[in-house]
Amino acid sequence: MKISVIGAGYVGLVTGAGLASLGNDVACIDIDEGKVANVNSAKAPFLEEGLDDLLGKVVGARKLTASKDYSSVSHSEVILICVGTPSRSDGSVDLSYVNSAAAAIGKALASSKLDFPVVAVKSTVVPGSTRSLIPVLERESGKKAGKHFGTGMVPEFLREGSAVDDFFKPDRIVIGALDGKSGSVLKKMHSGLPSVPLVETTIETAEMIKYASNSFLATKIGFVNELSRACERMGMNVDEVARGMGLDSRISPHFLRAGPGWGGSCFGKDVKAIVAAQKSIGLRPKILDAVLDSNEEQKKRMALLLEESLGSGLKGRKIAVLGLAFKAGTDDVRDSPAIAIVRELQSRGANAVLFDPAAMPNFKLLFPDAPYAASIEGALEGADACLIVTEWKQFAIPGVKFVRLMKNPTVVDSRRILDPADMKSAGVKYKAVGAGA
Ligand SMILES: NC(=O)c1ccc[n+]([C@@H]2O[C@H](COP(=O)([O-])OP(=O)(O)OC[C@H]3O[C@@H](n4cnc5c(N)ncnc54)[C@H](O)[C@@H]3O)[C@@H](O)[C@H]2O)c1
Repeated sequence: MKISVIGAGYVGLVTGAGLASLGNDVACIDIDEGKVANVNSAKAPFLEEGLDDLLGKVVGARKLTASKDYSSVSHSEVILICVGTPSRSDGSVDLSYVNSAAAAIGKALASSKLDFPVVAVKSTVVPGSTRSLIPVLERESGKKAGKHFGTGMVPEFLREGSAVDDFFKPDRIVIGALDGKSGSVLKKMHSGLPSVPLVETTIETAEMIKYASNSFLATKIGFVNELSRACERMGMNVDEVARGMGLDSRISPHFLRAGPGWGGSCFGKDVKAIVAAQKSIGLRPKILDAVLDSNEEQKKRMALLLEESLGSGLKGRKIAVLGLAFKAGTDDVRDSPAIAIVRELQSRGANAVLFDPAAMPNFKLLFPDAPYAASIEGALEGADACLIVTEWKQFAIPGVKFVRLMKNPTVVDSRRILDPADMKSAGVKYKAVGAGA
């Protein structure tokens, strides 16, 4: 198929490259000239396992091209909108990128000679948003939805860090379509993928499935984070409790890992957006309000755990912060717990020295004046305490190293990647989130 993908970010580029590798001709369109140039030279503009290799293949074979120009839309059978949907200040979803993409698509559709191109939204948008684009598309193209072009919503469930793998092995495919014809075109687009459960539904239900999924996952992590506080105080280990829970097939072991608070480009903005959407119609989503609240508290607790371990305030103390990305395997720092944690440490007067193997350039855009170390060792050198925020494998270092480098070998491990027995025998004062025993 000929496919245009609007937005060459994490979702658009991975989807575009995946679809191209299945034999489709894909044109990625992005307003960011730098990203377009990167893609055309087969270089991913962000860190994502396997994406450079995939781009090398599909760009080399001319199956994927990138451009700022929307003209490919006029000969595409499917046009996928994959632009960002950030939060507005009140938490509601900002559809301005989606709306401007729809207007540009509509203009290009005016000259389409194809029988029934389908415009589908892959960006995460609250129920009703995709349908609200129809008047824009009709106005700009002079054509009629359902007659001259189709519409749909195909939510994306990829995880950063394993996005390429997730594209080729999804758990399920959800297709919300305006009508049967739009649905069949979108089904055809997925035909090269392995057979997985397919949910064919309305546009609004597809939109809601994405929010329900992310809100539930955020709730699950929020739950285990709260549990971790109880375990710390009551003398047990949260991982053992989570394992015992997760073996129940009704619960499942996934997303039961306590940490410094969840983050990333989606959970926070999506939970806030669906909360705002519900409030706008007079509902009170108490559970999700609490999930947001509890997550803010979890991030703030990291500074408290450092204080407890040091037995004093943080003013003037050098704290080595290891990890800035919201999770390992990505350089994405959008809504990373490290942001709130570093702010909290700074507000308590600590000298937080930051290190991340991949995410420092992005973090520097948010904290240009913070001190950054060039290596793990540089961050630890002379530090009063160390806080592990991201579960990068390279942070799993032996206790003797903390003892050798730090002024005061005190470590708070929010991800439990260090070996407590090794820390103890090396003489490190070690505190793991969720471990009271
Ligand atoms: N990142 C994820 O893990 C993930 C997973 C599932 C769903 N989503 C959803 O997918 C959407 C995109 O997320 P992302 O992380 O890929 O965002 P991103 O910021 O990485 O990419 C969005 C891209 O769209 C481009 N863009 C903006 N306006 C444009 C326009 N009018 N025309 C062409 N390009 C335009 C931007 O320049 C940017 O490159 C969001 O709604 C997000 O919630 C993201």
